[in-house]
Amino acid sequence: LSPRSIDRVVRHAHALKRISLPWLAPQDRLTKSHSRLRMPSQSLFNKSIALMFSKRSTRTRVSAETAAVLLGGKALFLGSEDIQLGVNESVRDSARVIGGMCQGIFARVGEHSEIEELAKYSPVPVLNALSSLWHPTQILADLLTIYEHSHLWPASGVDYSKGEFHPPRPLTIAYVGDSANVLHDMLVTYPRLGHKLRVASPDHPKYRAPEPVWNRVKELQCDKKIWWGTDPKEAVHGADIVVTDTWISMGQEAEKEQRLKDFQGYQVTEALCREGGANPDWKFLHCLPRKSHEVDDEVFYGPRSLVFPEADNRKWTIMAAFDSLFGKWDIGTTYQTP
Ligand code: CP
Ligand code: NVA
Repeated sequence: LSPRSIDRVVRHAHALKRISLPWLAPQDRLTKSHSRLRMPSQSLFNKSIALMFSKRSTRTRVSAETAAVLLGGKALFLGSEDIQLGVNESVRDSARVIGGMCQGIFARVGEHSEIEELAKYSPVPVLNALSSLWHPTQILADLLTIYEHSHLWPASGVDYSKGEFHPPRPLTIAYVGDSANVLHDMLVTYPRLGHKLRVASPDHPKYRAPEPVWNRVKELQCDKKIWWGTDPKEAVHGADIVVTDTWISMGQEAEKEQRLKDFQGYQVTEALCREGGANPDWKFLHCLPRKSHEVDDEVFYGPRSLVFPEADNRKWTIMAAFDSLFGKWDIGTTYQTP
């Protein structure tokens, strides 16, 4: 997505949230610019969205299922134990068959090539719900959370006391940990929105962004706003937001022992951020699920942590993505049989 489209989806998610939850705290009430909005559009009415998930999920799955209901549609959870995919049927054939009955596919896969193949052969739009390389819907939720807390990092000339929805000033965002799908989307998103990214990961090629990701980072000229080193304290220097993710992503369980050794010193703590010279008001984000290795309880459950509003925002941003992508897809549209 272009920076403009990203901004549009995040604002749309905010509007959907305000429409659906008008009883939120006073500062979250409908703002003037949203006051003319009514119920969410029923853009998925009579539509079915396939959730093809070959890995576990709490947030993404529940967000997708509940968002589909609010948009008037139905989400079908198709776990790897439930359907023929990967055992008795190829990705290509499954894409054609499921895409022939549903109006959108939200897919969580292992290798990124699987989602590319799904998208190639599906007659309906395919949205990535996490792959080995990327986790795009997570970043939309992180951005909504950052926008909602913009008053913490006010941009000059904007009156945040009116509760209006404005992006913050350019931020310094630090990521301490493994170079995995969530970080990869941060790398291609935040620099294009004007934010600086500082990353620390252990000194081994497997903990750095893989070639296809780094190629994309360079293609989008994001590398100019990224500092990447091995020292977590250096990474958090000047950070307004500190982010991490599990050191052991789904599918890497066999590497657990080695990874716990390699990531020693990378746990996000108050001491690390104080000694590294983070902005004294730094906030914390984590996509979840969290293990205590990568962040201690003091930070995770403390006042700096935005992790639960961030988790809630998975729903509104996925709803905005479904509305924009699957909701605009006409049920009567014909498609070419591959
Ligand atoms: N953050 C996230 O994607 O969580 P789940 O794996 O629970 O969906
Ligand atoms: N990097 C993690 C993200 C989970 C939402 C994983 O892939 O398991």
